[in-house]
Amino acid sequence: MTTGTGQISLSFTDGEFSERIRERLETVEEHLLKAVDTEQPLLRQSGSHLINAGGKRFRPMLTLTCAHLGDPDRPGIVESAVALELTHLATLYHDDVMDEASVRRGAASANARWDNSVAILTGDYLFSQAAQIMAELGPEAVRTQAVTFARLVRGQINETMPRPDRFDPVEWHLSILSEKTGSLIATCAKFGAWFAGADADTMATAEKFGEVIGVAFQIADDIIDVASDHSGKTPGTDLLEGVPTLPVIYALAGDDPAEARLRELVAGPVPEDDLREALELLRASSALDDARATLRRYQERARTLAASLPDGPARQALVDICDYMIQRDA
Ligand code: IPE
Ligand code: IPE
Ligand code: MG
Ligand code: MG
Repeated sequence: MTTGTGQISLSFTDGEFSERIRERLETVEEHLLKAVDTEQPLLRQSGSHLINAGGKRFRPMLTLTCAHLGDPDRPGIVESAVALELTHLATLYHDDVMDEASVRRGAASANARWDNSVAILTGDYLFSQAAQIMAELGPEAVRTQAVTFARLVRGQINETMPRPDRFDPVEWHLSILSEKTGSLIATCAKFGAWFAGADADTMATAEKFGEVIGVAFQIADDIIDVASDHSGKTPGTDLLEGVPTLPVIYALAGDDPAEARLRELVAGPVPEDDLREALELLRASSALDDARATLRRYQERARTLAASLPDGPARQALVDICDYMIQRDA
């Protein structure tokens, strides 16, 4: 199956199921564009900029998939998928300001194309659109969205702060990934099951699945940031900014004298002139293997959760998503 503008290549085992999800994603796409169809010309342009640039649409795909744990034709499913993707999109506008990123989805980031003010305000506008849709879905949806977003922000801000001494570096980092990425993906899965009328146990398992696969998704993304030149983002952005990612944390925890230069380079923001060398050393290091092993651990946990769901096409699709997560960084 291909979603968005084709940056995700995920094959569901069940072809008919893939087709149903693909059709629904087209509806999501129409709603996304409608959400930025404002009379204010700059907001319309800046808001549609990253929607049109592509993106994997992983979150709405997960919402739509989890909706098959109940009745996928109930109202509120597409709307919640749209509101959560708009929330995600808003965080990307803001994240690129914080990370001083110049490329997103293979296009200029909004802060690079316009400036920080436009990027921040466009993110705010997208949040406002998400909130309006959530309001239609009722107070419980609004509350869940707010709690989810508070977790996401906590993760994002903790990432910018020194780790408190009492925490192990890897455990601290993984808790940040749960908050900044797992939180929203968990809610995407939960909302799919919830609006489809699934029972409470199924909904809770879907939510846990989303949290765990969300952490796997971020680890895979951080491995790609080091290992691939074709991510639609500038490789090594996190290294330049000194944003710690799992491969770097493992590199810093190592004591192999052969990796001393790597540790020296990644101990802080990597100067632009040293980026090539840092990327090459990191690509060849055991730290990247350690990050892949952790990714596999999360993928296995997600797979166990998926396997505990009631049998059916949605369960199989969630298992397929686990397999995709491993291929993704290959
Ligand atoms: C980017 O999310 C931020 C991460 C959690 C890694 P995606 O990788 O889902 O970004 P798009 O939506 O496909 O651009
Ligand atoms: C993206 O985080 C924003 C959130 C997860 C909220 P990152 O900074 O890790 O992701 P990319 O690499 O810019 O997509
Ligand atoms: Mg970033
Ligand atoms: Mg970031």
